[in-house]
Amino acid sequence: MPGPIVILGIFVADTAYRAPRQPRMGETILGEGFKLGPGGKGSNQAVAAARAGGDVHLVSRLARDAFGDLALKTWAEAGVTPEVTRTDDGYTGAAYIFVESGSGDNAIIVAPGVAGDISEEDIDARADLIRSASVFVTQLEQPLPAAIRALQIAREAGVTTVLNPAPAAPLPDGTLALCDWLTPNESEAEALTGLPVTDPATAEAAARTLILMGAGGVVVTLGAQGAMLVQGDRAVHLPAIDAGPVVETTGAGDAFNGGFAVALSEGRTPEEAVRFGIATAGISVTRPGTAPSMPSREEIEAALRA
Ligand code: RIB
Ligand code: NA
Repeated sequence: MPGPIVILGIFVADTAYRAPRQPRMGETILGEGFKLGPGGKGSNQAVAAARAGGDVHLVSRLARDAFGDLALKTWAEAGVTPEVTRTDDGYTGAAYIFVESGSGDNAIIVAPGVAGDISEEDIDARADLIRSASVFVTQLEQPLPAAIRALQIAREAGVTTVLNPAPAAPLPDGTLALCDWLTPNESEAEALTGLPVTDPATAEAAARTLILMGAGGVVVTLGAQGAMLVQGDRAVHLPAIDAGPVVETTGAGDAFNGGFAVALSEGRTPEEAVRFGIATAGISVTRPGTAPSMPSREEIEAALRA
């Protein structure tokens, strides 16, 4: 049995408003719908990976409040093992998500709450767990020092490390050298390299720059254009899958990262792992919500066979 997949990241409650457009400053408009559900990139990735068949542990922080309870219920249902510090002060975070009714595209504000206090000490307390992992995954919604500390511990123990650099943020020198895999989307790849990324060719150019900056391998996720995998001399463009009409793309990157991590932990090739991630994401966008839209193992395998 491979070691567990250990994910560091945050939970927030997603409050998703569906409307034809965003209000302008000072304006009020009527929306077409509202939904409250579990979100946060790290939590979404953990749910995706657990539903895809991984043994997943999530390192995070929650407050003792209603959204914190929603986190625990979500993880229990998905089979994610919580590795959580729960605090009496502060609040469990929330995200404002605007979903454009025509396209399903989104714009998001995240307030991390107590997950914004995840510290290097929190990581050190879970060091043995991180060392025991087959794959370690993190993102950039919690403080960067905690992410870097965890990547260092994982790296020293020979654990495969994945950094999903979302939301985009400047990274200190040396960070990318801690990452076996970097999984930016178009805009994150652009932010990290200063190069425009709009298609597989420009994604490959950005990925090559990220490898020169220290990343082991890079997967640039390209939405409807699939993903570009670059490692060593190899560059492979893998197309998206069509699992039905797109309802909401929020959390598609999280679905990709969760699926990708599971396949890597099972010892699949990078190309197979990217395909598995693409199938996970492709199904998730046909359903509303983020964590609730993550597919089961059976659904992912059926999509891969189709
Ligand atoms: O990646 C999607 C997630 O980003 C949403 O669930 C929202 O909570 C934000 O953190
Ligand atoms: Na979705």
